[in-house]
Amino acid sequence: MATRASSRGILAEASSNDREEIVGMLTRAYWMEVETVISYLANSINPDGVRAQEIIESLKADIEDELGHARQYGERIKDLYGVVPGSLEFTAEQSYLQPPEHQTDIVHVIKGVIEAETGAIDFYNEIIERTEEVDPVTNDMVIAILRDEEGHRRLFEGFLREYEAEGKA
Ligand SMILES: [Fe+2]
Ligand SMILES: [Fe+2]
Repeated sequence: MATRASSRGILAEASSNDREEIVGMLTRAYWMEVETVISYLANSINPDGVRAQEIIESLKADIEDELGHARQYGERIKDLYGVVPGSLEFTAEQSYLQPPEHQTDIVHVIKGVIEAETGAIDFYNEIIERTEEVDPVTNDMVIAILRDEEGHRRLFEGFLREYEAEGKA
């Protein structure tokens, strides 16, 4: 016996175009999270100096958050009948989070993190707008993730303020 397709909502036959577009956006978000994990991992190991330790500890905590986000995006891709891509489809974009010339250059790392978080915040707002009417479950999920990213950005803005106050940023 064939299973009955949903007649309403994002899983309905009639929603296949919306579904495809949303899976595309979720896939991009998935890769953004994966790249952020890669970048934060390196930047939680490389920095030198007394003041670097606070940044290292924050990034270590954020890595767990971003990995959790990647998992949520992946699972939602699957729910919407998509397939989570393999590593060969990955293209890196975070030029601003490459290791600085000097590993004591903490401002470089802080600014890079703010840039990554801002990129995520902008794109996740786009997903929230796109899913508003058609996919309340994805909408809800991304709103919760957006809250984490806003928190991450705010924390690093605070770090940057301290350096700016000293004229070092
Ligand atoms: Fe994230
Ligand atoms: Fe984040």
